[in-house]
Amino acid sequence: MKTIIIIFILSFTNQYVHAEDGHNLWLGNKSTGKVNVVCTQNSATLTIAREELQKGWHGKDGASVVLTIKYDKAIKCDGFKLNSNGVQANTDLGILYGVYELLRRQYTGQSIKGEICNPSYEFRLLNHWDNLDGSIERGYAGRSIFWRKDNPFVVTENDKMLWQEYARANASVGINGAVLDNVNASPSMLTLEYLEKVKAIAEVVRPYGIKTYLSVKFSSPSLIGGLKTSDPLNSEVIQWWKDKVKEIYGRIPDFGGFLVKASSEGQPGPQDYGRNHADGANMMADALKPYGGIVMWRAFVYSPNDKDRAKQAYNEFMPFDGQFRDNVIIQVKNGPVDFQPREPFSPLFGAMKKTSVMPELQITQEYLGQSIHLVFLAPMWEECLQSDTYQEGAGSTVARCTDGSIYPQKHTAFAGVSNIGLDANWCGHTFAGANWYAFGRLAWNNHLTSEKIADEWIKLTFYQTPSEDKNPISFSTDWTKHFLLPVKHMMLQSREAAVNYMMPLGLHHIFAGDHHYGPGPWFAPKGLRPDWTPPYYHKADTNGIGFDRTRTGSDAVSQYHEPLNSQFNNTKTCPEIYLLWFHHLPWDYKMKSGRTFWNELCYHYDEGLQQVRQFQKVWDQAERYVDSERFTQIQSKLRRQCMNAQVWKDACLLYFQQFSKLPIPYNRERPVHDLKDLIEYDMRRP
Ligand code: GCU
Repeated sequence: MKTIIIIFILSFTNQYVHAEDGHNLWLGNKSTGKVNVVCTQNSATLTIAREELQKGWHGKDGASVVLTIKYDKAIKCDGFKLNSNGVQANTDLGILYGVYELLRRQYTGQSIKGEICNPSYEFRLLNHWDNLDGSIERGYAGRSIFWRKDNPFVVTENDKMLWQEYARANASVGINGAVLDNVNASPSMLTLEYLEKVKAIAEVVRPYGIKTYLSVKFSSPSLIGGLKTSDPLNSEVIQWWKDKVKEIYGRIPDFGGFLVKASSEGQPGPQDYGRNHADGANMMADALKPYGGIVMWRAFVYSPNDKDRAKQAYNEFMPFDGQFRDNVIIQVKNGPVDFQPREPFSPLFGAMKKTSVMPELQITQEYLGQSIHLVFLAPMWEECLQSDTYQEGAGSTVARCTDGSIYPQKHTAFAGVSNIGLDANWCGHTFAGANWYAFGRLAWNNHLTSEKIADEWIKLTFYQTPSEDKNPISFSTDWTKHFLLPVKHMMLQSREAAVNYMMPLGLHHIFAGDHHYGPGPWFAPKGLRPDWTPPYYHKADTNGIGFDRTRTGSDAVSQYHEPLNSQFNNTKTCPEIYLLWFHHLPWDYKMKSGRTFWNELCYHYDEGLQQVRQFQKVWDQAERYVDSERFTQIQSKLRRQCMNAQVWKDACLLYFQQFSKLPIPYNRERPVHDLKDLIEYDMRRP
């Protein structure tokens, strides 16, 4: 009898939960009433705004919403003014963004008071690392939505529908640009047939305010232009780029510009011709300038000969501060090495005072469990954006140094390496959708908290509005207590959990070679560049562990402004989360907790594993609030994450134990694997 009652209760609470493959992302909610949209102007973008209100209205049934395009100097770029009876903006796109915000407020139960919402950054871009054969570098959610190997130039109705859905999802969070191809660019990207395809994509995404950009190969003039050189100061090369740019704008009048990875990881660049970054970037910028295009020139550079990879971008770029054209933006990864689970911020932020600098984040989880691990990245990005660089006194956060609040940079921009592919749910993991969402929300407002973003995303993604629900939305105490709060807590913990079971206390780059999914602190094949092997970074030996970047070590600390320089330099004042980033510590070093360093390391690895076990419990208890398709997919991924966390913990502790020669504290769980098996194990195997 008891079972029957339970089944009855469960089926009742499940009645509004429908099968869902995740394709709708955070946009699945349907209108619960009629709305009368008043707008005296017309355009493709305004038509979308009108339709979105009609499809998604969740305000008072029969209410009127007025969409007004009227200049107001307090409204910047495509910002908008929101009030209880409508949206006002300077541009059509501002109206569309305002409409999405209005609907978001309705669906998340937030009030609408008269207020102005301006974007933090002018350009808010996804970088797709999509190759022209349809594969995606560091993509974990299927193949490219833009390119394919077979029939590469055919554009089908399905393609157009997908690009439209993609553009809509982006616009709903304020993203206004997409770089369509990999930074390791193919020269073919700039050939006629591919440019025709870019034109087709641009036409579909344009009404949603998405501009198209391309990654270009620096040596394109010689590779596809038949020139003998690609020297940026050669007059034929200069003319070649001018002609190419003209050809592009002839097809795509609102083309955004170029993203360039040059003189980096084997990619050609100005240094191949004895020129420098400014020579290369400025030459392209001059070609784009007449059309309003920009160059995003990446600072991700490092050579195998340097003793400390973390210092190189700063060393290479600082001498050129002030020498770049005003339509060049230097694109800097959040940390000085490479999208690790935790890095201090790149010292270039705030230091380049006379150049536009933009942050590059990685949405695709190359180093954070790919599309298997549930890792909400907003806390990591918030940590970077809110880091104080002290470059112009206290409060010179990375956010303020890049969004124009401190430096009068001509352009401001924010980029994220996309995690999108052809998978039905776009990102491979439902919760990876939260990272796409969070990226867009932070690009729009770099002061949003991770908590607020997670709260919004969960409500928009999982709450199924019951058809008889009254407006405004009210989330039941039951749903809030048993779903929203525990799931939000899990999301907010998830990045720290990953740091704990992968690379706590400042460890970095100790991955298996190549695929970067599992642990590989031992990985150092003969002949491989040392800076591509983990021992270069962890430097474990019987004396201790960690990279000495103090003033007596590589001196990377000196690239930071005081008081950070001194703070990082001293083990007593260096935040423990960065200890091994800046210091080589003895195994018995005394931590603030009173534990030895070795014991603390064991504690963190075990803590990470326990956190994932807890996530499994949270998710299993959420079952009755989620459709079965998404529930089981996430449940099974969490199982794998938990097994992987165990492998990470065992592999790292057993490997480092060879040097520390100390026991794992007896009150922590013991490893369950043998190191020799883990060295042979490929964690990518399901
Ligand atoms: C990482 C990544 C590469 C990528 C590079 C980049 O090193 O593993 O696949 O090309 O970053 O940002 O250019």
